[in-house]
Amino acid sequence: MSSAVFMKIFQQAEKTFSNRNRDCYKANFAVLKKLVDKLVYSDLKLNPFLFSQKAFKVKTFSFRLSSFQNKAPCTFVNIYEKLDSPFSMSIFIIDENYKMPLHDHPNMTGILKVISGKLKAECYTQITTDKENGLLEKIVQVEQPKILTETSEAAVLYPDNCNYHELTALEGPAAFFDILSPPYSDISDSSPNARHCSFFKKEKIMVDNSGLNPTVKLTQIPVPDHYYCDSVYYEQPDFMR
Ligand SMILES: [Fe+2]
Repeated sequence: MSSAVFMKIFQQAEKTFSNRNRDCYKANFAVLKKLVDKLVYSDLKLNPFLFSQKAFKVKTFSFRLSSFQNKAPCTFVNIYEKLDSPFSMSIFIIDENYKMPLHDHPNMTGILKVISGKLKAECYTQITTDKENGLLEKIVQVEQPKILTETSEAAVLYPDNCNYHELTALEGPAAFFDILSPPYSDISDSSPNARHCSFFKKEKIMVDNSGLNPTVKLTQIPVPDHYYCDSVYYEQPDFMR
């Protein structure tokens, strides 16, 4: 049994992102954001061990490599993802001091709520985009970093604001719940409008004459070798089925 808060969040997400309710999107989104602000990990009925330092010390035996391997630096919990649904829900748990590499959410809106630990969120807003040798190049504005904890409001990313971010767990593992709409596209989708996650490196920081508004050039890179997740099964509550 998951909590009434979580059920309300799910139902409000359905209402908010449904095409039928496009006219009331802004008002519905504001209600959804306020509900997510209140979410705590116990609403999701997850095993708190997942968020512990001990969980990241567990080694698993790899038959491929014939040796014990460290646990992945991220744990992914797929909460809700359904073909043709206009949104997805998931949880990421990041190991202490690990930085989830800089990535984007093309043409997507997201709500991110920390449910355990302390997370540093460094966000960037796109100013220009280009392609060089088939790789994306962006000039982005550097936004003020945020420190998010269980008591912080949810953070929001929009298609045209804070759409790029890197996330670091401070002083222990950190876990966050997120809703993305529309969700990332299936990996097999090669259509021009497909929403795939790209990773970037920061090239150089530029500051204007006022010393304010720093911008940075980002260049697309392959998925960094150090970034991989293992996943934990989530037993969906009845209201999602
Ligand atoms: Fe993200």
